[in-house]
This record gives sequence, C-alpha cells and structure tokens, in this order.
Amino acid sequence: MIGFLGGTGPEGRGLALRLALAGERVVVGSRELAKAEVAVARIKGRAAVENVLPATNAQAAQESDLLCVTVPYEAQASLLSPLAQALAGKVVVSTVAPVSFHDSVIEAIMVPEGSAAAQAQKLLPHSYVVAAFHNVSAVDLWSPGRLLDGDVVVCSDHQGAKARVMALAQKIPNLGAVDGGALANARYVEGLTALLLNINHIHKARTMMRVTGLHREG
Ligand SMILES: NC(=O)c1ccc[n+]([C@@H]2O[C@H](COP(=O)([O-])OP(=O)(O)OC[C@H]3O[C@@H](n4cnc5c(N)ncnc54)[C@H](OP(=O)(O)O)[C@@H]3O)[C@@H](O)[C@H]2O)c1
Repeated sequence: MIGFLGGTGPEGRGLALRLALAGERVVVGSRELAKAEVAVARIKGRAAVENVLPATNAQAAQESDLLCVTVPYEAQASLLSPLAQALAGKVVVSTVAPVSFHDSVIEAIMVPEGSAAAQAQKLLPHSYVVAAFHNVSAVDLWSPGRLLDGDVVVCSDHQGAKARVMALAQKIPNLGAVDGGALANARYVEGLTALLLNINHIHKARTMMRVTGLHREG
C-alpha cells in the first residue's frame, strides 16, 4: 500500500491518481478525514480507479509500507515528528522542494540540514528516506492522458528503497527514473526545481528535465 501524507494537495492527488492508474493500492492522507474523502472522490472522478482510499495521516502512516510526503516544506517537520514511530522500517519518499514565491520571483529556501529530504531522514532515523518526483508538475500528473516527457532523479542512502522508488516512477507512462546517488545530492534536485519554476514563469510553460547520455535499457 502506498500512502500520501498531505495527499489532498495538487501534487499528492496527482501522484496518487497516476500510481492508482498503474495498479498500485493507494491511501490518501490528510489532517482531516473529510478532506481526504473529498480528495479521493476527486481522484475517482478523474479516472476509473477503485484502489484509492481516504485516511488521516496517522492511519496512512500505519497502513502503508511506502509513504510519499506531499506537504509544503514549512509543514514537513511538524507532520513527520509525531509519525516517526509509525514510519520506522518504511520507505518515505520526499517530494518536497523548499521554494518561496515573492513578486513572481521563485527562490530555493536554504535548509539547515542541506535539503528537505535530509531533514526528513534526520526526523525519521529508522525510515528509508528517498528523494524523488520534485520536478514532476502536479498539473501534468492530473491529466492522465498527458505523457510525461522527463526523468525523475532519485536520491537515497538506502539502495533497496531507491530501487523500489525508481521502479515505481517508471510505472507512470513515459516517465524515466535516474539514480541520482546519495541523499546528499537531493539538495541539487530540490534546487533545480526553483530554476525550472522560474523558467516556467518566463516562458509560460511547464518544463521537466531529461538526463541524456545515459545507457538505458530498452
Ligand atoms: N505542485 C507541484 O506541481 C509540485 C511538483 C513537485 C513537487 N511538489 C512538492 O510537493 C509538495 C506538495 O505540493 P502541493 O502543491 O500539493 O502543496 P499544497 O497544496 O500547498 O499542500 C499539500 C497538502 O499539505 C497539507 N498541509 C498544508 N499545510 C500543512 C501543515 N502546516 N501541516 C500539515 N499538513 C499541511 C494539506 O493537507 P491537509 O490540509 O489535507 O492536511 C495540503 O492539502 C510540496 O512540498 C512541493 O514542493 C509540488
């Protein structure tokens, strides 16, 4: 079961939709069960998926073996700290890109731990934190017919967890997954998100990144 902590926002709903379409069982978590129920109804209204359930964040953390964190950076610490025990031994995917928006300028927020993903690993010492999905637009995820022309760069200090998340990303049609090395590299992927968002703003576009020059299977 794949759980979403704060799965009621655009990124959580979009990823939940795509992974449910890929055949995964998904639970959408929220601080309020009623809000999760609304999000699940919206997902089911978007595509013919039955394998999506609503829950509180605490329930989602208990019931899932892989959790995606889809809350704003500012909310991450207060969300994860009380869930540390429930998340022990589980894969926790940080999609969090710490950015600020001021007068059309998008800037990366400097995180004391180096990255939001590193902060998550510090808060969850007994979980397998993986950084992924930062550069996938929620708008594109929410359009199941849209082919995602890009790669997800996946960083973690836990090889098995990283391989699992790479395989999961590749279940989304046309999305690639690239091993980005250790969790220490998550800071660069998170920072790149600020650059892509600025490019999007300048060009009135939704960009992704594709890593070229790799030897890929298939
Ligand atoms: N949007 C994108 O295109 C995109 C793309 C890539 C990565 N991301 C990353 O994905 C994450 C979520 O993005 P989003 O646009 O979906 O964010 P969002 O809509 O601002 O927030 C998502 C959910 O987080 C929960 N939340 C908000 N404040 C909270 C708090 N103080 N404590 C606990 N939960 C809180 C809320 O759920 P409840 O009220 O239901 O609890 C909310 O629906 C961000 O970190 C972002 O960097 C976003």
